[in-house]
Amino acid sequence: MWKEVNIKEVEGNAVKMIADEWMLITAGNKEKYNMMTASWGFIGEMWSKDSVVIAVRPQRYTMDFLKAEDYFTLSFYGDRRDIHAVCGKESGRDVNKTERTGLTPVFSDNSVFFEEARLVLVCKKRYCNRLSPEAFTEGDCKELYPADDRHFMIIGEIVKTYVKE
Ligand SMILES: Cc1cc2nc3c(=O)[nH]c(=O)nc-3n(C[C@H](O)[C@H](O)[C@H](O)COP(=O)(O)O)c2cc1C
Repeated sequence: MWKEVNIKEVEGNAVKMIADEWMLITAGNKEKYNMMTASWGFIGEMWSKDSVVIAVRPQRYTMDFLKAEDYFTLSFYGDRRDIHAVCGKESGRDVNKTERTGLTPVFSDNSVFFEEARLVLVCKKRYCNRLSPEAFTEGDCKELYPADDRHFMIIGEIVKTYVKE
């Protein structure tokens, strides 16, 4: 059973959750959606709204959905590394990651997440743009991005937070 809570009531350290537990970014709709593992991002405050920032490289198939859709979700799965072994390596262009992982999609709140998550943040897209090469303040960004695949930085307002009861 999902329980809706305020993000400020969620237990845990956001840096550890993102950097160590990892998360799925999911965007799309009932007809077509895609998800990928991410370990870079932020949970905080923007424009006086509880918000997230995610960093997605342009070549990710998930990026096509993030561009097209108004909503996306971040979802957390504890120590389920098996999910990330698929969603962090395979592309939805090549394989059906829902079948490969056995995840159960939930279509709710204009978005998609998975029954197996322990925590879900439903986010409304508020900003989406690529990092500008001229805006880096230290070194040459070609060292960070030899393939010139500078991330899209996407800010989302957290509109719903669900925890598994
Ligand atoms: C632990 C881990 C963290 C990752 N974090 C990110 C990330 O923050 N941003 C990103 O663009 N790709 C990240 N990736 C890579 C994508 O998950 C991976 O390329 C995935 O296959 C993309 O799937 P897609 O093409 O179906 O979107 C990460 C991969 C792993 C294993």
